[in-house]
Amino acid sequence: MTTTLVDNIGLLVTHDVDRSQRNDAAIVVEDGLVVWVGDARQTPDADDRIDAAGRCVIPGFVDSHSHLMFAGDRADEFEARMAGRHYEAGGIRRTVSATRQASDGDLLANAERLVAEARAQGITTMEIKSGYGLTVADEERSVRLARTLTEDVTFLGGHVVPEGSDRDEYVDLVVGEMLDACAPHAKWIDVFCEVGAFTLDESRRILEAGIAKGLGARVHAAQLGESDAVRLAVELGAASVDHCTFLADRDIDALAGSDTVATLLPAVEFCTKQPYPDARRLADAGVTVALATDCNPGSSFTTSMPFVIALAVRELGMTPAQALRAATEGGARALRRTDIGHLRIGARADLVLLTAPSYLHLAYRPGVPLVDRVLTA
Ligand code: NIG
Ligand code: FE
Repeated sequence: MTTTLVDNIGLLVTHDVDRSQRNDAAIVVEDGLVVWVGDARQTPDADDRIDAAGRCVIPGFVDSHSHLMFAGDRADEFEARMAGRHYEAGGIRRTVSATRQASDGDLLANAERLVAEARAQGITTMEIKSGYGLTVADEERSVRLARTLTEDVTFLGGHVVPEGSDRDEYVDLVVGEMLDACAPHAKWIDVFCEVGAFTLDESRRILEAGIAKGLGARVHAAQLGESDAVRLAVELGAASVDHCTFLADRDIDALAGSDTVATLLPAVEFCTKQPYPDARRLADAGVTVALATDCNPGSSFTTSMPFVIALAVRELGMTPAQALRAATEGGARALRRTDIGHLRIGARADLVLLTAPSYLHLAYRPGVPLVDRVLTA
């Protein structure tokens, strides 16, 4: 049993910033769990000590939406979008082709590199999706390799219909042999319900098949326009509906009365030049909101949660405190986890020391590397 004391903390955010501890706060970690939080003048004895030198400590970021199992690069599409071309779901097929050609070693090494990049910027938990294999063997290896990196693995065979496949036959494959092969490695099932990807009926079929296999549901919806898939996600008890760029009032009403988290991905809007969603509508209605990177080579190639927070504050109408909460506890709620995303006593001791006196600097100093040290359980 080892205990570590982090003291001399200028601002300690355990969950709600209104209840943060200021000036010489301390936190004690024992065997990977938070066991004590309070005033540094009253700290219990500990084996090791870290001096936070007056800086801010926050919970590790929880990135509840990423697509790290891929190979290849689509920087040319980004360049074309910046010149005015619209984002289309079809670009996914280019990454599918590169991913199928990659060896297991290369696929895993690329994902490991991105996990390390994310961690250096304060992300201590990551959900990882498949979805660039789209054959039984390629999806199975994606979820199997992803499982070596995280326990929150999502099977996304329903990303797009692959080149040359018949739609109905492909959906049969996803809900049949592909799901059978992937479910043992996955915790979640997801589907991209959008023009150019899957219809509402196809999405329902895919999600219901996953749920029947014991997987939790999550849905990509309302990225390119309003969509009935938001209410489908609520109806099926999905943990999260992600993108939510275009929401009708009835979608917000449905989310407000549910346990489904609205996950906003503003780096997608940044990288596709789409309009940003209005997070204030969600907050006013009492909807739980998460922020995530959606790291993928097409619509959002970033692993930076501080960048996402800065966008959420500048473009989505979130306060810095709301954005921090959405990037930590919101992400945890989107993964239906209570052990992460906060630093209350009993939480997993995933914490981040910022090179800053306050979490406000995450948005106030955009683009500046402010994560000094990351401690994980
Ligand atoms: O979340 N929307 C669907 N999937 C990804 C995009 C993937 C891609 O363009 O490669 C997303 O934005
Ligand atoms: Fe996505």
